[in-house]
Amino acid sequence: KGDPRLQAISDAIRVVPHFPKPGIMFQDITTLLLDHKAFKDTVDIFVDRYRDMDISVVAGVEARGFMFGPSIALAIGAKFVPLRKPRKLPGTGEVIAEAYDLEYGSDCLEMHVGAVQPGERVIVIDDLVATGGTLSAAIRLLERVGAQVVECACVIGLREVKGQRRLNGKPLYILVEPR
Ligand code: PRP
Repeated sequence: KGDPRLQAISDAIRVVPHFPKPGIMFQDITTLLLDHKAFKDTVDIFVDRYRDMDISVVAGVEARGFMFGPSIALAIGAKFVPLRKPRKLPGTGEVIAEAYDLEYGSDCLEMHVGAVQPGERVIVIDDLVATGGTLSAAIRLLERVGAQVVECACVIGLREVKGQRRLNGKPLYILVEPR
C-alpha cells in the first residue's frame, strides 16, 4: 500500500446501504467510472502490475468485470474474454459452464471454449470479491480448457476472504477494502 491513488479510488466508490437487500452495503463502482482520474488510476494500477507478466488473456466476469477488463486488455496487449451469466453466449456445444453457490440458491458462469487456448496465461478481473464463489467458478472454467490462471484481480475486496488473498490456490490482488 502507500499508493496515494488508492484513497481517491476508495472515495470514488459510493456505498448504498440496504441494496439490493436489507443489510447489504452495496459497493457501487458506477461513481468510480464517473471520476476520470480515479477510473484511469484504477486501470493504470492493474496495467502496471500485469504488463510485463506475459499475460495473453484478460477474462472479465459479468457484469462489472466488463467495465474494467477491456481497458486493461488493450493496454497490456492481451485479448478480452467475457465470462457470462447463463444462456447469454451463442453456440451449441461450444460453451462450458461452472456453477457456484449463492446465499440462497446458485448461479453459473459460462465461457466459449475456443476463446482461450491451453497454456495461455490469464488474469481474471471483477469489481468485487465477497465470498469468492464467483471467482472460483471463473478459475475452474479457465483451468478446464488448460489455461494458467496467474492471478485474480478485484477493485474491492471484503475481509471475509479471511485476508488470505488466495482463491483455489491462486493469488488474489485487491486495490481497496469496502467502505
Ligand atoms: C457481484 C460482484 C461479483 C460477485 C462477488 O456480482 O460483481 O461478481 O457478486 O461475490 P462473491 O465473491 O460472493 O461470489 P453479482 O453476483 O451481484 O452479479 P451482477 O454483476 O450480474 O450484478
